[in-house]
Amino acid sequence: MTKRVAILISGGGSNMMSLVHAMEGDGFNASPVLVLANNADAGGIAKAHAKGIATEVVDHRPFNGDRAAFEAVLQGTIVKYQPDIICLAGFMRVLTAGFIDQWQGKMLNIHPSLLPKYTGLHTHQRAIDAGDTKAGCSVHVVTAKLDDGPLLDQAEVPVLPDDTAATLAARVLVEEHKLYPAALRAFVKNAR
Ligand code: GAR
Repeated sequence: MTKRVAILISGGGSNMMSLVHAMEGDGFNASPVLVLANNADAGGIAKAHAKGIATEVVDHRPFNGDRAAFEAVLQGTIVKYQPDIICLAGFMRVLTAGFIDQWQGKMLNIHPSLLPKYTGLHTHQRAIDAGDTKAGCSVHVVTAKLDDGPLLDQAEVPVLPDDTAATLAARVLVEEHKLYPAALRAFVKNAR
């Protein structure tokens, strides 16, 4: 059975598009049924719309920090599309255990560091500041602890002497676009 995938984004959605392109390929057995953003400005919404994928925006701002209320609307919006799997792809809201428990073992995330190093924000600058010689990205199953949960796969890149956070981020992003589709493909295969 083809798995139904919802992709949650906050920004440009380049990882979302890499997942969408990959799912168009032969033998993936998954299809994108929803791209949802937490702000209407997310560039990925227009890209998904242009691909003919259903889109939704659930803006977190009117909820004034009431995460439970935001997540209740988020959940209500997502379930309408009956996804089997949720992919967080640059979704920059911290989700509570109450939401995550509803998708236990079914929600994946890509994070721009070699987890368990550098959970949270500013991962590339932190790797540079620490003098690391390698950086990278990780795909993991989402659990209640931020950027934690079973690792599915990682990709490494070198940190070069002249790197800034921006140059390192660009090098890591190239790997993200390969890693996430490959990890999702394997996840879908194992879920059958
Ligand atoms: C990606 O680098 C992703 O790994 C990161 O946000 C970027 C989104 O880019 N995610 C996180 O930092 C989550 N903690 P994109 O919108 O072009 O895919």
